[in-house]
Amino acid sequence: MRYQPIHNKFFTNNRKKFASQLPNDAFAVFFSNDQCPRNGDQFHPFRQNSDFFYLTGIEQEKSILLIAPNCPNPSLQEVLFVLKSSKTLEIWEGHKYTKEEAKETSGIGSIYWLEDFDAILKEVMSYHDHVYLNQNEYIKFFPDVETREIRLGNEIQKQFPLHQYHRAAPLLTRQRLIKSKEEIELIQKACEITNKAFRRILQFTKPGVYEYEVEAEITHEFIRNGATGHGYAPIVASGKSACVLHYTENDKTCHDGDLLLMDFGAEYANYTADLSRTIPVNGKFTPRQKELYNAVLRVMKEVKKLYVPGNTINTINEKTNQLMEKEMIRLGLFTEEEVKNQDDNNPLFKKYFMHGTSHFMGLDVHDVGAKHEPLQPGMVLTCEPGIYIPEEKTGIRIENDILVTEKEPVDLMADFPIEPEEIEKLMQQ
Ligand code: GLY
Ligand code: MN
Ligand code: MN
Repeated sequence: MRYQPIHNKFFTNNRKKFASQLPNDAFAVFFSNDQCPRNGDQFHPFRQNSDFFYLTGIEQEKSILLIAPNCPNPSLQEVLFVLKSSKTLEIWEGHKYTKEEAKETSGIGSIYWLEDFDAILKEVMSYHDHVYLNQNEYIKFFPDVETREIRLGNEIQKQFPLHQYHRAAPLLTRQRLIKSKEEIELIQKACEITNKAFRRILQFTKPGVYEYEVEAEITHEFIRNGATGHGYAPIVASGKSACVLHYTENDKTCHDGDLLLMDFGAEYANYTADLSRTIPVNGKFTPRQKELYNAVLRVMKEVKKLYVPGNTINTINEKTNQLMEKEMIRLGLFTEEEVKNQDDNNPLFKKYFMHGTSHFMGLDVHDVGAKHEPLQPGMVLTCEPGIYIPEEKTGIRIENDILVTEKEPVDLMADFPIEPEEIEKLMQQ
């Protein structure tokens, strides 16, 4: 494990909160993620299911959790199943959790080997009518591959067709939306590492370097600081590549006179940061680049004030779009007259700013939570306005992570270089 251990009180509290939302005659089953096959005999690096991690802290494949707060057999009210290790597994794959370690990590008293799951599930099933199963309900995500929770959830439903099944996701979403003190500290740690990486590449970037060399510098700084790596595929996009929103090839040369847009975030203890910065490859913005950059920065500074209880991502988007439209007129991208005559279903600003301004973040870079969700203290969101002008072979995005509190919003990236003069100074050192 690369991060400082998290006290099991955190996971115990998360389970308690979840259990308190279950009706009396219900229990829930959660599955860890699959090891995802790559090719030959290789798997992709294992990343735990975010909900499973949130409820257990267990970082191992083939683990299962039962939460049955009203089970008449008290020893089965919380049960964790883990893979039983063997000499061969230890030799080839390394250490697996012992029962004591699984208990210490999760705070769960009843730890069983995976092979005991069927028998214990049958007993727990016999005491309940209702079963909560989990699923990734992210509305814009359509993977071709079936997840372990879907596959094994289907098996349970087939084996016990007379029970009634329900969605755990809405209950967990409600919980995960509000970050606890421990979670905020982990996100702050991810931000701190991301800041180090950004400062490193301010020193490194110069005309002639490849985008992937910049990526390598970021990865280097992440890993040496205890991050597991990137929270999402990093974008290192110079020149016109910055206009491709999900550009991740990172294989071009950074040219003198171009801007370099980067979007990256360290993942620490499964929590991520989400940063975007745009810098001049040669260390000095041209007057036009600075004009564009300052327009985005002005919008960001204004919009950041809106991360207060009661507002929603939708209201933040609306306000950003209005501000952005004004800036674009000032930048000469279109005129006020053209705006008056525009098709309101396809406003002009959308040509240069085509994405939303904010999303929830935490265990996942695009974390659970909907755009109409009223903001509450403890929520963490991004603020990421941008302008993308293919005609000028230029894209600019600036993105910070913001914590909603009862009072002023807290910018978790307040100490990251952001003013153009500050960036130029650091690049020229
Ligand atoms: N890094 C992905 C995003 O900014 O939404
Ligand atoms: Mn983002
Ligand atoms: Mn981002």
